[in-house]
Amino acid sequence: MVTVGTDSGWSRICPAEALIEQGDGIRFAISGGSSPTPAFLLRIDGIARAYLNRCAHVPVELDWHEGKFLDDSGRSIVCATHGAVYDAASGRCQGGPCRGRGLQPVACREIDGWIEVEATLGRIA
Ligand code: FES
Repeated sequence: MVTVGTDSGWSRICPAEALIEQGDGIRFAISGGSSPTPAFLLRIDGIARAYLNRCAHVPVELDWHEGKFLDDSGRSIVCATHGAVYDAASGRCQGGPCRGRGLQPVACREIDGWIEVEATLGRIA
């Protein structure tokens, strides 16, 4: 798993073709603090999206198995612990224990055949 720093600007995570539309998430971590903060990438509607891998209900990782975030529709992220549902394209809470609190986005972009993230200190709570 790739680990990026919070002060290193844009960091490459994976080749763009590795991020499949509505497929498994690609996990990475953001260094800093007492331990790395887990995060993940998804591709939804052709666009790479990145979020911290942290439920808004209880701060635990979301995936059912490593990289498995999406429900059968491929449009929603469902927390494995208590079933909070998030819109995969926006990270907004759609229902369940998240109660209106969404996922925390991480800036990401696709450039020169790579997916990159920018984990600036201001974006990581
Ligand atoms: S920890 Fe995610 S729904 Fe409770």
